[in-house]
Amino acid sequence: MFAFDPQQFRADNLGSFTDVLRLKSGQSLTVRFVAPHDADVLQSYFRNLSQMSRGNRLMGAASELPPSEIDKATHVGAHNIFAVVAEMNIDGTNVVVAEARYAFDAESSNAEFGISVGDDFQGQGIGSALLSNLECRTAALGAERLIGDTLRNNEGMIALARRLGYAFKPTPGDWKQVRFEKTLVRLVADIPCESWRIAATTSFSANALSYAF
Ligand SMILES: CC(C)(COP(=O)(O)OP(=O)(O)OC[C@H]1O[C@@H](n2cnc3c(N)ncnc32)[C@H](O)[C@@H]1OP(=O)(O)O)[C@@H](O)C(=O)NCCC(=O)NCCS
Repeated sequence: MFAFDPQQFRADNLGSFTDVLRLKSGQSLTVRFVAPHDADVLQSYFRNLSQMSRGNRLMGAASELPPSEIDKATHVGAHNIFAVVAEMNIDGTNVVVAEARYAFDAESSNAEFGISVGDDFQGQGIGSALLSNLECRTAALGAERLIGDTLRNNEGMIALARRLGYAFKPTPGDWKQVRFEKTLVRLVADIPCESWRIAATTSFSANALSYAF
């Protein structure tokens, strides 16, 4: 029985769910929840994406994130929607190099996600590292499957999903997209994250505990 407690995510404790990942280059990538004060940072990240990357991410021609989406992103956990940014320290400054959003549906035990990596940072393993981290974060919520949809011609996303072992199938109701899906149960032992550790040491996800290894 799923026992996710949305109270776990409060503005004053979001930092405890931060993960520091190691890229193949040896550089650190810090993945953290979007905080309420991050609206401008997030918007400027999206404005700086190339038209193609933004179009692939938002599946449309928007030049920036609509205010309603910013609002969702900066209220982590509301409606079971979670937004993260990934930062790298570049010349002493923390720069947002990627972002992702995931939503969890307790009834189906499915989580869905969208992801982007800044154009200057693509091809360095950041997408792979961030998506692996999302697998752990969503499993800690109780998700049994992680699902994404992308345009059929999005070679980058398809290559990334294939590399991480996702299975492909048609997106219901949209022939221009393809769906990729991965079963999460028992995978997260290889890719630990703070959310998983917190879930395992509190009662916030009964499902997560039942996956104990
Ligand atoms: C898709 C995306 C997230 C991939 O992130 P990334 O950091 O570039 O991915 P990685 O560097 O981890 O690469 C993962 C694998 O995909 C391959 N790959 C990445 N981009 C590719 C491309 N355009 N064409 C072919 N292969 C590609 C890499 O070679 C790598 O495989 P390898 O390890 O066998 O070499 C990034 O390109 C992006 O943000 N695109 C714009 C937004 C978008 O399309 N989002 C998806 C919609 S949900």
